[in-house]
Amino acid sequence: MGSTIAVIGAGYVGLTTGACFAHLGHKVTCADVVEAKVDSLQRGEIPIHEAGLEELVRAGMDNGNLSFVVDSEKAVRDAEFVYLCVPTPQTAEGPADLRYLTAAVQQISPHLQPGTIVVNKSTVPVGSTLLVEQALGRSDIPVVSNPEFLREGSAVDDFLHPDRVVIGSDDEAAASHVASLYVDCGAPIMVTDPASAETCKYAANAFLAAKLSFTNAIAAVCEAVGADVNDVLLGMGYDHRIGHEFLRPGPGWGGSCLPKDSNAIISIAEDAGYDFALMRGVIQANDEQFDRIVRKVESVTSLDGATVGVLGIAFKAGTDDTRESPAIEVMKRLLAKGAMVKAYDPAVASLNLDGVDVVGSAYAACEGASAIVVATEWDEFTSLDFDRVGTLVAERNMIDARNLLDRDALTKRGFTYQGVGRS
Ligand code: NAD
Ligand code: UGA
Repeated sequence: MGSTIAVIGAGYVGLTTGACFAHLGHKVTCADVVEAKVDSLQRGEIPIHEAGLEELVRAGMDNGNLSFVVDSEKAVRDAEFVYLCVPTPQTAEGPADLRYLTAAVQQISPHLQPGTIVVNKSTVPVGSTLLVEQALGRSDIPVVSNPEFLREGSAVDDFLHPDRVVIGSDDEAAASHVASLYVDCGAPIMVTDPASAETCKYAANAFLAAKLSFTNAIAAVCEAVGADVNDVLLGMGYDHRIGHEFLRPGPGWGGSCLPKDSNAIISIAEDAGYDFALMRGVIQANDEQFDRIVRKVESVTSLDGATVGVLGIAFKAGTDDTRESPAIEVMKRLLAKGAMVKAYDPAVASLNLDGVDVVGSAYAACEGASAIVVATEWDEFTSLDFDRVGTLVAERNMIDARNLLDRDALTKRGFTYQGVGRS
């Protein structure tokens, strides 16, 4: 017998959470404040590019397990569980902005049945479970922290087959009720106190960011000493303490979470009296990586007045999310040096950035370009007809910031080729 679940916020996390819980047999109502989003969801159209999500949403709507509303009070009225999946963006000073969270909680508080369990899935600083309890102002409602570890692009799979489920609560009964929702996922379920659950989320993202900055730094060392980063990382990854995952060098890391959470953990630590200098270095190394890609372009063509074709706008393949995209960081730096950019992404149709012309195909992005930058690792770019690309460009220069393409195939066609960590 399924439970009745309300999900507040139907974005990447909320929509995935709602659709997956509906798939697991629960009755789910997702609420979002954006009417246009709810309208399109009610028609079974999902506003984001996420593998397998649209099918789950439609199946859930068809079997009556999933519905969408604008009023969160309607969604929570009969709910046994309320999942909070609202944004917690970075403030200018660094810490997470909890305004959306407190607003959502205050909105739902008067409409909750006694005993409803409020579960926070948004990424929040340590102590936020207490803050949610205070904003609720209801001693009859337990609040549980249940941070989410899904990745965009594989969100459905990550939700249904997580590496682990982390639950933070001082209320044993509430924690075990929340745990019961995940028994079919076959993952270790860890119950801890709220502060540890909240810290675990930030620590995991900060570690992943550090791993990537380290990888990109090793790539720079490889370039300097004439080693091939692919072989170096392969050799490192065979050590099971290191592993092969999350070791792909690139143009820098981005997205809606790693950058904001890396900054947030610095600010959380600072507030608690610890100077997390290591993490500042991780962020600085990432910023330098964007510049390193631009320097590669400058090494083959003068940027002032040049057209650069950029393949990829999303922050990684498999998503249309452009938040904090490394591709955009690189484009901004190219523009600052006087270049014009033609950009193409199979999942992104527009971008509000002066000087960037978003075009309809990879070939159109290459037309008249003095250099091409591969900024996002879409498969589509590997099967381009490079003979044709060669006839379209003004100069045959390829900067493959994702080490995606066949270097030999390009050099054979007269392109200069620069990857990351390999010449
Ligand atoms: P998002 O911006 O895609 O979606 C959030 C949604 O909440 C939006 O649709 C917004 O309209 C809605 N919303 C805001 N206030 C609301 C309210 N009062 N009532 C109802 N709806 C409201 O954000 P996201 O990427 O899903 O992230 C949500 C949280 O999950 C963040 O804290 C984020 O750090 C965390 N997180 C995100 C990911 C990810 O891959 N995107 C993964 C793990 C954790
Ligand atoms: C990240 C974490 O991986 C998730 O576990 C977490 O739940 C999520 O943040 C979150 O808190 O929101 P996501 O933002 O979807 O997930 O993206 P990642 O897959 O982590 O990629 C982040 C950035 O690193 C991208 O720009 C990607 O291209 C880059 N990356 C990733 C590399 O350059 N190399 C790699 O090997 C892996």
